[in-house]
Amino acid sequence: MADMRNIINVGLLGYGVVGQGVFKNIEKNKEVLKKRLGVSFVIKYIAVKNLALERQVEVSPEILTDDPNLVINNKDIDVVCELIGGTDAALQFTEQALKNGKIVITANKALVCHHGQHLFDLAFRHGGHYLFEASVAGGIPIIKTINEALIANKFSLIYGIFNGTSNYILTRMEKEGLAFEQILKDARELGYVESDEALDLDGLDAAHKVIILTFLAHGIWVKIEDIICEGIRDISREDISFAKDAGYRIKLIGLISRDFSKNNLSVRLHPALIPCNESIAKVNDVYNGISVTGDVVGTTIYTGRGAGQDATSSSVISDIADSAALLQSNDISNFRLLKYKKNNGELDLDLIEQSKLEGRYYIRFNVKDEEGVLAKISKNFAKHHISFASVIQKELCSDNTLIMVTTHQTNEYSIMVACDEVNVFPAVIKKPSVIRIFNPKDYLE
Ligand code: HSE
Repeated sequence: MADMRNIINVGLLGYGVVGQGVFKNIEKNKEVLKKRLGVSFVIKYIAVKNLALERQVEVSPEILTDDPNLVINNKDIDVVCELIGGTDAALQFTEQALKNGKIVITANKALVCHHGQHLFDLAFRHGGHYLFEASVAGGIPIIKTINEALIANKFSLIYGIFNGTSNYILTRMEKEGLAFEQILKDARELGYVESDEALDLDGLDAAHKVIILTFLAHGIWVKIEDIICEGIRDISREDISFAKDAGYRIKLIGLISRDFSKNNLSVRLHPALIPCNESIAKVNDVYNGISVTGDVVGTTIYTGRGAGQDATSSSVISDIADSAALLQSNDISNFRLLKYKKNNGELDLDLIEQSKLEGRYYIRFNVKDEEGVLAKISKNFAKHHISFASVIQKELCSDNTLIMVTTHQTNEYSIMVACDEVNVFPAVIKKPSVIRIFNPKDYLE
């Protein structure tokens, strides 16, 4: 593949928000890219499903096609950007392009999460590459950071905010005291929410990203069904206000923690109360934020736009630039990205069982305001050796009340059993709502 040509032909699969961003920004900064890289990028073909669709970033009709083969099977095209999303056609097209030895670039986190190893293997076997900077945290260059800049490190803790839509909703709930459904309506109108809303609201999108980072940092692929993956649908105004008064913010957190002495790993995605003085707690609106702690570098923090046309295309173009280096290198076998050629996993690394996770918890009980309810709940929790660290009862304009507690250190199993038992008490109106408390300091000692 080594080649000193000064033009690199690129094909796009998909011309939606990100595709248009890639075209627009390559055009915008073509001079500077040429100066820096010594090559020009030419978008040779853009394959779309519907040619008639109106698009904001205009392109010459000659390069628009509804035949993906003109991109995937085109001998003149070296670099294919898969920007269609999903895991059906995107998988099929990516496989074919990799079998043709192309460098494939993607922003598709679901595809990398579910089929990454297969696609890396395919790329290696056929002399191509599979690059995916845009798949995690949009414009934040976290893939290259973990994979290249922080290569000297073992990672004890990586955590952060990986879904801009959830962060937007939680931020506005906190700032304006509004309910989840009210802000969700606005988020939909602003086009922030994915068409499959579960991706944003049930944590799946962020979990895909966390799984990709787990592979980069620890060399193993965990399955989404083996990790805690919870979204933000059950967060109430009262939870947010309690958290605020107690010095916390509620954020949807992805967390990868490794205990090197026990050689185990915890990978989770769930809302958490985090101390409001932590940098990640201050990342608001649609922004993403990631804290990476390595044994050599210490803690480093990255924030920026995790989605959207320009931020995501910035990362795609960075991979396009890498493809220029890959195509021109005479010795690409040394290129670090080739480490994906095999599963470099640490096979004796254990994923901690969810039920054994330890920590502190916040619990909201929605109960009838009757004599002795609090006593009964706390007695039941004491039976499971769970001690309350704080308790607040909120007066409502009805016969019901909210009791909100935080616990001292306990474990996930005890919390779940205690909550299930309390749930059948006659005075309990709704299943207790549990949110984990996460303090990074507990993981870094
Ligand atoms: N729905 C995603 C988000 C888009 O809100 O962050 C970027 O992956």
